[in-house]
Amino acid sequence: MSKTYLVTGGAGFIGSNFVLYMLENHDDVRIVNVDKLTYAGNLENLADVEDDPRYAFSQTDICDKPAVKALFEKYQPDYVVNFAAESHVDRSIKYPEVFAETNVMGTVTMLNCAKEAWEQADGTYGDHKYLQVSTDEVYGSLSIDEPDTFFREDTPLNPHSPYSASKASADMFVKAYGDTYGFPVNITRCSNNYGPYQFPEKLIPLMINNALHHEKLPVYGDGMNVRDWLYVADHCKAIDMVLTGGKTGEVYNVGGHNEKPNMFIVRSIIAECSKAVDDPAITEALIEHVTDRKGHDRRYGIAPDKIKADLGWYPETAFEDGIVLTIDWYLAHEEWMSHVTSGAYMDYYKRMYEGR
Ligand code: NAD
Ligand code: DAU
Repeated sequence: MSKTYLVTGGAGFIGSNFVLYMLENHDDVRIVNVDKLTYAGNLENLADVEDDPRYAFSQTDICDKPAVKALFEKYQPDYVVNFAAESHVDRSIKYPEVFAETNVMGTVTMLNCAKEAWEQADGTYGDHKYLQVSTDEVYGSLSIDEPDTFFREDTPLNPHSPYSASKASADMFVKAYGDTYGFPVNITRCSNNYGPYQFPEKLIPLMINNALHHEKLPVYGDGMNVRDWLYVADHCKAIDMVLTGGKTGEVYNVGGHNEKPNMFIVRSIIAECSKAVDDPAITEALIEHVTDRKGHDRRYGIAPDKIKADLGWYPETAFEDGIVLTIDWYLAHEEWMSHVTSGAYMDYYKRMYEGR
């Protein structure tokens, strides 16, 4: 029987990839995309499916309880996948309140509306599931001198940035709903994603865009901070698998087993962009070391053992393939890039960056 997914933040980077992934891989789904359309949300990402009868969109703030409640009444979703969030660490350092509002209060509002909609007379919740899309950043930071240590699902939460503090708080509310009300939840905690439709405030699309335009490539600090990069389609597949196969109440870490220092990523982008457009002016001379991010986490690393053992998920896209796919996508979508890098939102971003 067809299942209805209420997907929040479906116009953002991972959310839009997830909506497209679900509609492409399942005939029997209905997707309701609930997005406020902040600077990070862009309906152009979903132009290919806007007329698909299995897809609906509502411009709604997840903090707006009456509006969210009305969506539950109208669409009677089986599942909620909560992607909606303020997602950029640098913005959170400057503007923490908005992160608390959307990431914490928005999550509590979604949990509350789902609980009210799904609760049955006997206090159970039927065949429903609420999945919180969280992040490995809630675990804090690992040492680069201990490369064999990884974040595990039972690693204590130790967030450092206002962004990760807001995501950890949200995770605690999700856990509390499971523990207190027996509410059917899962939490996924994923490492750094890259791929199509990522807003060019994040490392990979920012570096691709700047390299192609011969602009400086701003590397924070010594550039030796390590992130574990995962191609976005692999993350979407993991969420799909956890929703339907994950044991209720469990946390699943999702990672690429692909840890790289930022300098490696930037150098790879320079080499691949230069090759893709046959431009010898794209060189490492564009790299500029700038002031480090405040409280900059040194290393993230996930060994995705649990999700592999329980659900058979593993990262399918090798970084050397994924980065070429990503650069090719940005080259083929110059209009998308110029649209999202122009206008008030990008001015706001630039002001923020220049003010660092
Ligand atoms: P994004 O910033 O690209 O997209 C966020 C989306 O949420 C946008 O469409 C935005 O309009 C929407 N949104 C923001 N506030 C809203 C509100 N109040 N109500 C409704 N919609 C709102 O983010 P992303 O990179 O796609 O991340 C999606 C989720 O995945 C986030 O929860 C993030 O914490 C998590 N995550 C991201 C990564 C990553 O590498 N990008 C990794 C792990 C987890
Ligand atoms: O780990 C998952 C997280 O990954 C997600 O939860 C976040 O939503 C997502 O934004 C991402 O956080 P990061 O802070 O790791 O990603 P970002 O792309 O901002 O930065 C990656 C690394 O690159 C980090 O060490 C900071 C560095 N960096 C970033 C930018 C934007 C630079 O050196 N220069 C830059 O201009």
